[in-house]
Parts: sequence; C-alpha cells; structure tokens
Amino acid sequence: MPQHVSVLPAEVLHWLDPQPGQVIVDATAGAGGHSALLWQRIQPGGMLIALDQDPMMLAIAQQRLGEAPVRWFHRNFDDLPSVLAEVGVTHVDAILADIGFCSDQLADLSRGLSFQTDGPLDMRLDPTSGEPASAMLRRCTERELADIFWQYGEERHSRRVAKRIVETRKKTTIATSGQLADLVRSCVPRSKGHGIDPATRVFQGLRIAVNDELGALERLLRAAPECLKPNGRLAIISFHSLEDRIVKQAFRGNPESVKELMRKPVQASEEEIAANPRARSAKLRVGQKIG
Ligand SMILES: C[S@@+](CC[C@H](N)C(=O)[O-])C[C@H]1O[C@@H](n2cnc3c(N)ncnc32)[C@H](O)[C@@H]1O
Repeated sequence: MPQHVSVLPAEVLHWLDPQPGQVIVDATAGAGGHSALLWQRIQPGGMLIALDQDPMMLAIAQQRLGEAPVRWFHRNFDDLPSVLAEVGVTHVDAILADIGFCSDQLADLSRGLSFQTDGPLDMRLDPTSGEPASAMLRRCTERELADIFWQYGEERHSRRVAKRIVETRKKTTIATSGQLADLVRSCVPRSKGHGIDPATRVFQGLRIAVNDELGALERLLRAAPECLKPNGRLAIISFHSLEDRIVKQAFRGNPESVKELMRKPVQASEEEIAANPRARSAKLRVGQKIG
C-alpha cells in the first residue's frame, strides 16, 4: 500500500476539468493518486501519459492503476517534449506536476532523505543517475556548500554549517543522514518559537541541489506551453516559496502564450490539512495556453 496521500485532489479535478477522450500528462505519477483520478475522468477513449524519475514510485503507481493502459515513462519531466514525440502525440489537453517527493520516498531508508532516520546519505529521487548527496558533500567547496544551504534551504547559518562540514570531512566521511543531522544540530541553534528541527533547512537545500529540482521545474515551465493544445491547462503544485515564485514568474512572464487563471494560489482546506498535514504547504497554480 502506498503511504503517500495526494494533495488537493478535488481542486486538481476542478481546475483541469478532464473530459472523456482527452490526452493528459501526469508529470509526477508518484503513488498514482492523481493519475487514478485523471484516468477515470478521461475514459472512455482518453490517454494518460505518466512520468516519474523514480522507478520505485513508478512501480507503485503502476500497481495502483492495475490494468489501465497508461503510457508509463521513467523520465525526468524536463524531458517531456521527447516523451510526447515517443508516444506520437504533438499536443495534450492538460499537464499536472505535483513536485517534490512522496511520503514513500521519505520513508525509504536507503535514500537518506529524512533527518529523523539514519540511512545512506543519497537523496537522489532518481537513484539511477546523478551524484549522491554524500559525494556532493565531499566534492563541493565550502563556499559552494554555503550557497546551496542559503539559496535552496534559506538557512541563516549556512556558512557555519559549510565550515563544519569541511572541517569534519578532513577527519571522516559524512556518509549517513544521521551523521549530517547531528553535525547540523551541533552548530545551528533551535529557532525560538518554531518546533522545527535545526537540520530541516540544510536537508531541504541539499535535496534540491542533488536533484536540480529548481532547474528541472524551470525547464518544464519553458517547454510546457509548446506541448499544450490551445486552451490546454498546466497545473503545478509546489511545496515551498522558492518553487512557487518560479511558477508565478513563469506564468506572469509569458503573457503571450500562457494566461494565469488565478492571482493567488489555491491552498488546502482546514479539513484536508487535518487529515493530511503535508497539504498545509501545498500551493496550486494553473495556467492556460492562449487559444
Ligand atoms: C508529491 S509526489 C507526487 C504524488 C502524486 N501526484 C500522487 O498523487 O501520488 C512527487 C513525485 O514526483 C517525482 N518527481 C519529482 N521531480 C520530478 C522530475 N523532475 N521529473 C519526474 N518526476 C519527478 C518524485 O519522484 C515523486 O514521485
């Protein structure tokens, strides 16, 4: 059973308004929750093209969708135009990207995504490519590490953490999430009034850097308008302000090809947040290709 609970399910259906016979891309299949909802709405005759960069999540989504003839792709969503070319589709009716990671990935100890558990410090959402976080901690200069924690994690003590990493790696390898979490806790004070673990921001920054998450989002936003039919819709669910800013700027900065459908992002209701605390930070923005 997947652990992940899809956020904003009713809102995604409302804003994408999928209809029988349509062609829809779920760019982040994850545990298949949104895919299943979209699939039901586009039958009979519809086509769902589902991507995920993580083969583990793709397998979970495939199991959830059962026999449904979804077109599955183990790919980064920044590769969407070539995926569509492989399927032989030029334009689609809608694209959904629910970015970030799934609860199932956080719970997978072999990823080292969580600062609450101890596992190899890998952090790749696609374990088949790229550089694990432990290698990045060995390779980057102190300045580069500080920039990663500051720019992607908004960690105020970024320089202090980077310095401690460089001192520590001279003596030992930082190979596990537990080691990194303890290192950060030893030099970042717990912020007053906030219950959050001092390691939260450093882990976020490192994960974003390892997976080039903001770069992939920017490339998807650049490519998506070309992939949509006139009046087709692009829905992005983001989980922190860095991502939401990129989505907002992409929609507003491209008024000749995309119309922003809402000024303020759609957020989860109190009921949804009570049932699924992860929904608290979810923000949905939808753009429509100019007809
Ligand atoms: C929040 S989960 C999606 C959950 C899904 N909407 C559901 O209802 O179960 C995010 C998923 O997107 C995938 N992902 C993140 N960035 C990606 C990218 N650049 N390309 C492809 N998949 C990506 C992750 O591997 C993860 O499985």
